[in-house]
Amino acid sequence: MASVKLAEGTSAGFGGHAKLPPGPRMPSALQATGWALRPLAFMDRCAERYGEMFTLRIRRNRPWVFLTNPEHVKQVFTIDPQLVRSGASEANPLLTPLLGSRSMMLQDEPRHMTDRKRVLPSFHGQRMQDYGEMMAGVARRQIQGWPLEEPFALWPRMQAISLEVVMRATLGNVEGERAERLRRALVELTNWVNGPRRLALLAAVGERSLTANPGFHAVMRPVEELVLEEVRRRREADDRDEHDDILAMLERTPGEDGAPLDDRKMRDELVTFLSDGPTATSLAWAFERLLRHPDKLARLRAEVEAGEGEDYAEAVVKETLRLCPAVPVVMRRLVEPMQLGDYTIPPDTIVAPCVYLMHRRADLYPRPRAFEPERFLTDAARTYTWIPFGGGVRRCVAVVFAQLEMKRVIQTVLSEVELRAAVSRSEAAARSSVSFAPDGGATVIATRRRTTPVDLPTAA
Ligand code: HEM
Repeated sequence: MASVKLAEGTSAGFGGHAKLPPGPRMPSALQATGWALRPLAFMDRCAERYGEMFTLRIRRNRPWVFLTNPEHVKQVFTIDPQLVRSGASEANPLLTPLLGSRSMMLQDEPRHMTDRKRVLPSFHGQRMQDYGEMMAGVARRQIQGWPLEEPFALWPRMQAISLEVVMRATLGNVEGERAERLRRALVELTNWVNGPRRLALLAAVGERSLTANPGFHAVMRPVEELVLEEVRRRREADDRDEHDDILAMLERTPGEDGAPLDDRKMRDELVTFLSDGPTATSLAWAFERLLRHPDKLARLRAEVEAGEGEDYAEAVVKETLRLCPAVPVVMRRLVEPMQLGDYTIPPDTIVAPCVYLMHRRADLYPRPRAFEPERFLTDAARTYTWIPFGGGVRRCVAVVFAQLEMKRVIQTVLSEVELRAAVSRSEAAARSSVSFAPDGGATVIATRRRTTPVDLPTAA
């Protein structure tokens, strides 16, 4: 971004006394390019130049105000939910065509809360313990198929594990040919979306680059058909009342009109859950970082082998999500003006708590670029300074589930195989469809462990 010209002071032009924090003056098309191609470097540079609050103009000239002060982030996460709209489709124009316009992630209040409450029971209590065992079992089976003594990228392997986990949590124990067809369709969709130039096109043209492309529909349609086939099967099954997966929760709670959710709504909600990308990315990062820190890896392995407690595994997960957040920024669109520090941010502006920059503040995290899980052994991960899952009423519904999955998968891998990095250099962050993954896919070499695999903790 060295050639980018940045200028001080930019004002809203919304009339009244509204004023936006400073930010780059270059045309929004150039800002969009910087955002699409090297978003992390772009944000770093803006933070360096403008400090803890700055304004970018990336899409349709609607300003995005980036926030990295915990007080401001708290204000945004605790604002009356009626006064903000979902910012998800602004941040990522992929979301509407992929998830569907009725996905809970894209709803405004009060509909969003109704949708959210429908699925929350899936993520509480005894369910977590059952999920933990399922997650370790899925990981153990998948590891059996890993190559030994030759380099391979962990990221796709982590995608395979997290896909199977989320399919089971969403649709129950779909097995055999049916499961395989859905798995293949979801992988094809992900690969297509991650294809060359796809993201640059998406940034330049917006969601039309997908909706007007027959290639997109060719990979989206099989996913929709297979998901709806699962819905139909469940509705006709004799044991349909005995399930407690996400599909069951959606079936059990009717819509606002008292009628069962229609197929379109079922499609959008189920695809939203099945599209979990951040977990695989975060797992790939956990291994990428651990393998470059043999002392941390050894400490974690010792904890796994001892089979007593999992404080260090917990800290490794927290530190991975701090240092390498898969989702680097979350967004809300203001309905009313909002006072943030010295600025009155006008309506229709996007306010964007910036996970990536917040997690790299040296005043909050000493040596912020270092991978130091130990920091979370002594300090708690706090609500408004550790924000990889966003916050407020839109905070990731799977916040406990996802951390449990990361823990169980990491522990299972370490108890089954020895891993070493295939290349010595650290991997950089590269953008995938909705998250940021290691650019070499976390390439490793695995060898079978000589000791007997250990029993993992069963509590969530
Ligand atoms: C490490 C893994 C994960 C990370 C880092 C992550 C991160 C996030 C973030 C940043 C948001 C937006 C929060 C906001 O706007 O404040 C979100 C929302 C959401 N996530 Fe996750 N997520 C992860 C795993 C998962 C998994 C495994 C699932 C499904 C089983 C899931 C389902 C959702 C849903 C449905 C929402 C929308 C919530 C709402 O709008 O109320 N996430 N996630």
